[in-house]
Amino acid sequence: MKIAVIGTGYVGLVTGTCLAETGNDIICVDINEEKVQKMRNGIVPIYEPHLDVLFERNIKAGRLSFSTSLKEGVEHAEIVFLALPTPEDENGSADLSYVLDVADKIGHLIREYKVVVDKSTVPVGTAEKVRGVIAKNANCEFDVVSNPEFLREGFAVDDFLKPERIVVGSSSERATELMNRLYKPFVRSGNPILIMDEKSAELTKYAANSFLAAKITFMNEIANYCELVGADVDKVRIGMGTDSRIGKRFLFPGIGYGGSCFPKDVKALHRSGKEVGYDFRILNSVIQVNHDQKVSLLPKINKYFGNTLRGKTFAVWGLAFKPETDDIREAPALDIIDNLLKQQVTIKAFDPEAMVNVAKKYGDKIHFAKTMYEALENADGLIICTEWSIFRTPDFKKIKKLLANPVIFDGRNLYDLSDVQKENIHYISIGRKA
Ligand code: UGA
Repeated sequence: MKIAVIGTGYVGLVTGTCLAETGNDIICVDINEEKVQKMRNGIVPIYEPHLDVLFERNIKAGRLSFSTSLKEGVEHAEIVFLALPTPEDENGSADLSYVLDVADKIGHLIREYKVVVDKSTVPVGTAEKVRGVIAKNANCEFDVVSNPEFLREGFAVDDFLKPERIVVGSSSERATELMNRLYKPFVRSGNPILIMDEKSAELTKYAANSFLAAKITFMNEIANYCELVGADVDKVRIGMGTDSRIGKRFLFPGIGYGGSCFPKDVKALHRSGKEVGYDFRILNSVIQVNHDQKVSLLPKINKYFGNTLRGKTFAVWGLAFKPETDDIREAPALDIIDNLLKQQVTIKAFDPEAMVNVAKKYGDKIHFAKTMYEALENADGLIICTEWSIFRTPDFKKIKKLLANPVIFDGRNLYDLSDVQKENIHYISIGRKA
């Protein structure tokens, strides 16, 4: 099938590349000429595991190409995916200007039947708005469907190729038939393509992300309580998670959720509720608790050093908001670093992928180490913010030797208390004994 994907952020790029993988003919459109030129030269502009291999293969096969021309994309395609940014505006709502602006242009461009697909995370009612905007100028038939993505950064290719479900909000049989045909190769295992109305599809995405954010936040509160009463959150987590109604996944406590999705989507759903007179009290609590959780290691660090951090040096392992990505949006590491810098602390950071992005933000205000161990040299303590695999089984003897002061503040509960303590290192984590 002939497809255009408008917007080459991580959603657009993964969508375009993976749809090319099943033999479709894809044009990815972006207004950024430099980016388009790079992609034409085979350079993947984001870090996403496995994407480079598929990218190269499909470009070579002539199924994946790039353009700065929306006209070229729209004329080429029977299905036009909108994978445009929906950033948070000053009220916490999703800013739809990119989506509606492109919809308006599409209205002027279409000459024959097309399906326009909202792939971006957009508030309930957006498909209706997009339809209205296109209809102002279109003089042919078209349909708008909502098809939210459920891709996790770091696993996006796998999530796209083997989805647990595909949600399609469509009120047109013709569009539904095309979407079913497009996605059939991805659900050969029997996972469902769920067809529903557009509004329910749009809400499914917000409800899923908000539920997951609430699940994590609930565990973070249990962890905080564990610290006060001397329980071990890891035991509680397993005790709870083995109940299949609760499930084992997404129960890991830590220094809060970050990234480009959960924080924005929880706020946007909360805000959309307000717009129709509904107060999502639970989401309000999730937002507040997560805000505090992101800096919950700081009182522990301050207490350990008797509230005098000025002049100290800390190693920070992990800067990305989670492993397997270079994305630092809403990363807890940044909240912690900002606060420590205010306390006149020196930071020596290491992250396998995100240092370039962090350097753009901080310049020479913080130091970057070439290896995880180099960051430790003469530091007064180690702070762990992201659970990259390479941090999971470190050489504790080396850590002890390199640190000026043997203490680890672990925001991701990577180690067994006994493993660290037997090396005579102080170990302070989340929801477990110190
Ligand atoms: C999330 C959803 O998981 C995807 O399904 C969705 O498509 C995507 O948002 C999106 O809306 O585009 P992502 O933001 O890539 O994906 O990351 P997750 O792996 O879900 O992690 C989100 C945050 O929760 C991270 O900060 C992570 O550290 C935190 N987390 C996750 C925990 O603190 N504990 C857990 O047990 C799991």
